[in-house]
Amino acid sequence: MKISIIGAGYVGLSTALGLAHHGHSCICVDRNEKKVNDINKGIPPFYEEDVADSLKEALDKKLIFATTDYTHAVQNSDITFICVGTPSKVDGSIDLSQITNAAQSIATAMKNKNSYHVVCIKSTVLPGTAEGVFKKWLENESGKKAGIDFGLAMSPEFLREGFAVQDFLSPDRIVIGELDKRSGDALEKLYTDFNAPIMRTSLKTAEMIKYASNAFLATKVTFINELGNLCKKLGIDVYEVARGMGYDKRIAPHFLNAGCGFGGSCFPKDVSALVSLFKKEHENSDVLDAVLKSNTAQKKKIVEILKNKIDPAGKKIAVLGLAFKENTDDVRDSVAIDVIKELKKHSANVYAYDPMANGNMKKIFPDITYADTPTEALKDADACLIMAAWGEFAELADSDFAVMNNKIIIEGRKILDRTQVSGIEGVCW
Ligand code: UDX
Ligand code: UDX
Repeated sequence: MKISIIGAGYVGLSTALGLAHHGHSCICVDRNEKKVNDINKGIPPFYEEDVADSLKEALDKKLIFATTDYTHAVQNSDITFICVGTPSKVDGSIDLSQITNAAQSIATAMKNKNSYHVVCIKSTVLPGTAEGVFKKWLENESGKKAGIDFGLAMSPEFLREGFAVQDFLSPDRIVIGELDKRSGDALEKLYTDFNAPIMRTSLKTAEMIKYASNAFLATKVTFINELGNLCKKLGIDVYEVARGMGYDKRIAPHFLNAGCGFGGSCFPKDVSALVSLFKKEHENSDVLDAVLKSNTAQKKKIVEILKNKIDPAGKKIAVLGLAFKENTDDVRDSVAIDVIKELKKHSANVYAYDPMANGNMKKIFPDITYADTPTEALKDADACLIMAAWGEFAELADSDFAVMNNKIIIEGRKILDRTQVSGIEGVCW
């Protein structure tokens, strides 16, 4: 099928690459000209293992093409996916401005298209947005009627950054929210080759499934973080406890890795946006209120542990791992940002290192020192904080830490090899 995808970010490009892998022809639209040119040259706009290879494969087969021209993309495709960002505003509610822009551009393009076209939202939007807001924007701008002249669907993404293409190709389920049967049928046809259960539902149910899934996962992580804090006090390894819990099929072993709190472009903003919706509807959101409060406290713990050991003022502190998690260069809402802010507030000299995210963090903190290797960051350091579970940190040994001035190692993510490194303290282990 011919597909257009608005927004060539983590979700948009991964969706395009996944669909191209199944032989669909994809036009990626992005307002960012550099991103567009890079994609056409085979340069992925973000880091993820295998994305460069998938992009090359899709370009070689002529199944992917990027442009800034919405009209060309809509005119030359049957389905348009919307994958623009939906960040949170300062009050935690959702910022729909990128969706509004996308809707306007698609509607203008649809005005001059005679054949039936399906628009499918993939971006995370609050229940009621597709039908209550988005449909009207499209109808008003295009002068066409949803359900007759064009189709409308909402198919949320469940893609973990770092594994987005892989997650797209091997989904646990595919959720298709549909305005009407014809819209849903068009989407289902696209996923014929996928080996996953397909669930067809209303637009707002699909929107809620996305929020409920991320809020539940964030709650699971928060639960194990708090349990970890208690286990640490009692001399119990929370990772062993999690393993014991995970054998229970009702619990499952995933998302039970205790640590320094969750971050990223989704969990914090999705939980906040859902809480805002609870409040708007005058319903209690006690569980999710507690998740946000607990995560804020958890993010502070690693520096509190450090301060109990040394006064960070004037000390060299190595921060290893800047991305919000391993295998990505994304620093959006990374716990490392909170940690660096706090260290700077205490006048520490921060030496930061990440295998992929130094460049992105430099845009936020241009005034700290960035190292090209862990050793450079560790040399003469008075303490080391591990903030992301990059595989290469598992290779570090006592000899690597021997260059430190003072061997204080605090892990925010459990990754160091205990048989190779001694004297590690974990944030909750
Ligand atoms: C996604 C989803 O869309 C978001 O709703 C979800 O909750 C998290 O993941 P992501 O792919 O991470 O967002 O966003 P980002 O990497 O910021 O990419 C969005 C892209 O859309 C950018 O490249 C931006 O330039 C582009 N864009 C935005 C347009 O091309 N046109 C617009 O009008 C707005
Ligand atoms: C999330 C969803 O998992 C995915 O389905 C999609 O909706 C986008 O949002 P992502 O944000 O890429 O994916 O990363 P994820 O692997 O979910 O991790 C989110 C945060 O939770 C990270 O900071 C991570 O370090 C943390 N986390 C995750 C833990 O602290 N412990 C865990 O066991 C798992």
